[in-house]
Amino acid sequence: MEHRRIAFIGAGNMAKSIIARMISNGYPADHICASSPDETHRSALSDAYGIATTEDNLQAANDADVVVFAVKPQIMEAVCNPLQILDFSSKLVITVAAGISYSRYLEYLGQPLNLVRVMPNTPALVGLGMSGLYAPNTLPKSDRAFAHNLLESVGEVCWVEEEDGINGVIAAAGSAPAYFFLFMEAMQQEAVAQGFDEATARQLVQQTALGAAEMVRANADLSIATLREQVTSKGGTTAEAIRTFNENALSDIVAKAMQAAVARAKEMETLF
Ligand SMILES: NC(=O)c1ccc[n+]([C@@H]2O[C@H](COP(=O)([O-])OP(=O)(O)OC[C@H]3O[C@@H](n4cnc5c(N)ncnc54)[C@H](OP(=O)(O)O)[C@@H]3O)[C@@H](O)[C@H]2O)c1
Repeated sequence: MEHRRIAFIGAGNMAKSIIARMISNGYPADHICASSPDETHRSALSDAYGIATTEDNLQAANDADVVVFAVKPQIMEAVCNPLQILDFSSKLVITVAAGISYSRYLEYLGQPLNLVRVMPNTPALVGLGMSGLYAPNTLPKSDRAFAHNLLESVGEVCWVEEEDGINGVIAAAGSAPAYFFLFMEAMQQEAVAQGFDEATARQLVQQTALGAAEMVRANADLSIATLREQVTSKGGTTAEAIRTFNENALSDIVAKAMQAAVARAKEMETLF
């Protein structure tokens, strides 16, 4: 990965996960600066990763080739406005904030930008994230590659052609860890109802979820439907469970839930 001077504006969970992976992948610590108001957070970051920290967003952004915005969406405008005095023409801007459209950043920073909008998800915190990235075709290839490599340090990456696609990423990945948690929670509850203690119920569900995900990953040439069919013997126990899911229209429920996530994402874009 190319070594550019990079400033993280906001140094919470998401920024910290990316920084941690960058450092463990050999990115030079002296090329990274993180800006955040809380002194305890800053010293924890500099102690853990040897990076520079500051409370001065303007200074951090001014000194950087790449500025990563990793603050909460509600404060993005207030964080960006004071940076309008900087010239961003030779900088790459990357934002991981949910719900703020590309065009908003041009307003917030008051100038044309080389900007990549990223929708990561929580498993980035354990290096198994899935991020969707959007940038217009005018973004230089080297900037596209830099953003791609940066997000790949915390998991896998896909690009969407149109900005609208980011809302699809929210439905299929950004919000999706919670869908799996909900499903696992329901299974754990029923396993407890069937007589297991909480810990054993969790172990049964957790290891099965991991194993199933790994089987999907390890068999890229097989569709997920085929993998399901292969473990569903006719007349067996799995077939009975699947029949129950189908009778209760699980696919329709999932489709409606994902559509609701997209609708909410569109609504949120109007709030900022
Ligand atoms: N976490 C996820 O899984 C996830 C997934 C998708 C998208 N995102 C997006 O990533 C962004 C960050 O989320 P997060 O989970 O990392 O949040 P977080 O842990 O709350 O981190 C936000 C950071 O912003 C800092 N901050 C607050 N005010 C600031 C200011 N005026 N200038 C500079 N920094 C400031 C906070 O600093 P102090 O702690 O020092 O106050 C904190 O370090 C959000 O926009 C979110 O939508 C996160």
